Amino acid sequence: MTTNGTSTERFAGRADPAALNFSNLGFSYVKTNGHVKYTWKDGKWDAGVFQPTFDLNLDIAATVLHYGQSCFEGLKAFRMNDGKIRVFRPEVNARRMQRSCRGLCMADPPVDMFLEGVRRAVEANAEYVPPYGSNGSLYIRPFVFGSGAQVGLSPATEYLFMVLVSPVGEYYTGGMGSPTKAVIKHKFDRAAAHGMGKVKAGGNYAPTLLPTLEAKKKGFSVMLFLDAKENKYVDEFATSNFAALTKPDASGKRTYVTPKSSSALASVTNRSLCELAHRRFGWNVERRRVAFDEVRGGAFAEVAACGTAVIITPVSEIHREVASSSSAAIKSVTSRPPLDASTQSPPQDTADPFGFEEEE
Ligand code: COI
Repeated sequence: MTTNGTSTERFAGRADPAALNFSNLGFSYVKTNGHVKYTWKDGKWDAGVFQPTFDLNLDIAATVLHYGQSCFEGLKAFRMNDGKIRVFRPEVNARRMQRSCRGLCMADPPVDMFLEGVRRAVEANAEYVPPYGSNGSLYIRPFVFGSGAQVGLSPATEYLFMVLVSPVGEYYTGGMGSPTKAVIKHKFDRAAAHGMGKVKAGGNYAPTLLPTLEAKKKGFSVMLFLDAKENKYVDEFATSNFAALTKPDASGKRTYVTPKSSSALASVTNRSLCELAHRRFGWNVERRRVAFDEVRGGAFAEVAACGTAVIITPVSEIHREVASSSSAAIKSVTSRPPLDASTQSPPQDTADPFGFEEEE
């Protein structure tokens, strides 16, 4: 998706784009000119509005507040060297949001409406898209939630689909050039085997907050989760997917390995990396169950966390906590970033050779 748009309405409390240091943003929430909002009522979506505000009027019995009926997406717009703004693979996020909404019994935005909402939000906030070469991007956060009010446990009868944007830089300090340390905590699961781990439900993220806070106190910036049933296979990091590379074989070919799991999110970044690894580098790609013992045993030369927000963050060490409070250190990977993120996206956007859109 390409856009050149301009905006006239502006939020009074916005950050002044001229005063922003686009080369050093971090991953924080910056208030821009406004957001886009569509309402689903009486069985249909309205035409949507751009609102130069950042607050919301909501009935206190809205299902999102009590039953967590909500999902979100994360994608990015980049300013390119031709001055145009391009959004990375928004159709793939649109379809993933539909799967999330269906999984949570919510009205799902049609793909065209999702794309229109993203375009409107980006165009109205074009001055917040970081300049080419700054390493920053405009993070786009579409979200859907039950706004209808009720106290019984059943799907809401009204929904909002909203899109906010915020200029962002690195999620983990140092980005691709700086390896991070991960920990698997004892007694914390992210998502049940047959639960909603595979969609982007808000409820998949809140349970990671407490163990992540504890992990950070011990110097680990990210948590890795194993499957909740057998506690044996790698699922994903709290923020992102898990990807690993083998050493090059005799012919120089590597294998890109990433977990296939009914409880891990189908990451758009991971899917793109699979496609690049295969098409651009001619590597083998294996999307399959990955036993943590393989990681521990040194099967992989490099491991990374990959996702829209975290880009490709190299993981230098993974520690696994054991039943007591001690932790067993497992050095699993090198500190070199595994892939060159400047590589272009693949040409087609509907082919799904590695099955990221299949129902697990
Ligand atoms: C993203 O990568 O876009 C996400 O939504 C992950 C979130 C933890 C920031």
